[in-house]
Order: sequence, then structure tokens, then C-alpha cells
Amino acid sequence: MKLIFLGPPGAGKGTQAAGVSAHFRVPHISTGDMFRSAIKNETPVGIEAKRYLDAGELVPDSVVIDMVRERLAMDDCKSGYLLDGFPRTVDQAVALDGISEPDAVVEIEVRDEKLLDRLTGRRVCGKCQGTFHVSKLADAHTCPVCGGEVYQREDDRPETISTRLRAYHEQTEPLIGYYSGKDKLCRVNGDSRVEDVFKNILASLE
Ligand code: AP5
Ligand code: MG
Repeated sequence: MKLIFLGPPGAGKGTQAAGVSAHFRVPHISTGDMFRSAIKNETPVGIEAKRYLDAGELVPDSVVIDMVRERLAMDDCKSGYLLDGFPRTVDQAVALDGISEPDAVVEIEVRDEKLLDRLTGRRVCGKCQGTFHVSKLADAHTCPVCGGEVYQREDDRPETISTRLRAYHEQTEPLIGYYSGKDKLCRVNGDSRVEDVFKNILASLE
């Protein structure tokens, strides 16, 4: 199964990708996670991408496409993949069609007003990478799963969030038309309980 998760920042792409990639036994490939890891390791890609992530803007297509092409050539992608956060522009989608055409695209829909609370309240565990909303944590600094320290993503500050939302509406939303034109789009309401969204994603893919 070759899958794409499309949706605005905070829609729940990463949250749902964990369960859906396990269900289909395909690797979960998040370009955002790849950039954050490259930044942490100060690789050439990380050094170039950092200013875009910090500003909430999209990294140039050429950089992202090369990174994804390399990743999809790896052995674990032979049986498929779940791409989370790629493609994000029509040029990226066209490039992906030339590398490995996806079977289905799941669009997770959530209104902008809901997204702001989800993103400003998001905390990520530095040890197990688990994602939580701060309102659900008994201790605002400790991961409830592994006890690691949780942190707030640099780009989860209100001023950067508005730039990310604008980038989504202007540059990524056109992909909805691109994939519905190819009859590959499954739309799922992302504004319900995590377990219900998961069930609806599987149902829409069937
Ligand atoms: P990326 O890391 O992909 O960020 P994003 O698209 O902005 O999405 P997020 O990771 O913020 O949200 P999500 O949908 O994964 O939500 P999550 O599950 O965490 O990209 C970061 C940056 O990298 C970009 O800005 C850009 O600079 C660069 N980049 C990446 N890919 C690129 C590309 N292809 N081209 C160019 N640049 C690229 O959930 C969010 C919160 O909501 C959590 O707190 C979670 O617990 C909560 N939550 C989830 N589901 C629910 C639910 N059903 N109900 C209530 N709360 C929920
Ligand atoms: Mg994510």
C-alpha cells in the first residue's frame, strides 16, 4: 500500500500515521521528522532547512524531492509507504508520480480554529517521540509513556503557526484538486476522537 496523508498543521497526520502504518506494515515517512533530525545532526540538508522550519515556510521543492527520492529507494519501501507531510506542492506531487505513484491519498480535515489550540498545546517526548496535548499531561514536563522529558516544537508558537497555516492554504490545498482529479482522494473528518478518526481512515480506504 502506497499512502499519502494530507492535511493542515495539527490535523493529526503524525498521530494517525503511527497506527495506520503499523496496520498496513509500511514505513511511516514524515518529511518534517526527517528535517528535524537533519537539523539536530547538523547535516547539509539540516543546515539549509532550518531557516524555513523556524519561519514556518516550506523548504524548497528541490531539497525535499531529493530527500524523499533517496528515502523511497530504501529496501523497507518495497512493500509500500505512508508519506506524512509530502507532497506539499503540486510540483512535489508531480515529482512523486515520476518516482512512485501513490495508491491513495487521505485528507484529514480540521478547521483552523481547532488547529491553533492543538498546536500551541502540543508537547513531544524527546526520548520516545510520543505526542501529547499539554492539557492531558499530569506533569507538563514528563512523558506519561516513557518518563522522558517533553518539549514544545520551535514552530508551535502562535506567530509561526499562522505562517504554516497560510502556507498550507496557498501551496498545499491545491493538491486536493490534483488527487481528486486522479480519483485517489479519501476525505476524513479529523475533528473527532483519535480512535474514531483511525477507524474512519481505514473505512475510507476500504
Ligand atoms: P511537519 O512536521 O510535517 O508539520 P505539519 O505539517 O505542520 O504538521 P504537524 O506535524 O504540526 O501536525 P500533524 O498533522 O502531524 O499533527 P499531530 O498528529 O502532531 O513539517 C514541519 C515543517 O517542515 C514545515 O513547516 C516545513 O518547513 C517543513 N516541511 C516538511 N515537509 C515538507 C515538504 N514536503 N515540503 C516543504 N517543506 C516541508 O497532532 C497535533 C496535536 O493535536 C497533538 O498535540 C495531538 O496530540 C493532537 N491531536 C491529534 N489528533 C487529535 C484528535 N483527533 N483530537 C484531539 N487532538 C488531537
Ligand atoms: Mg506531524
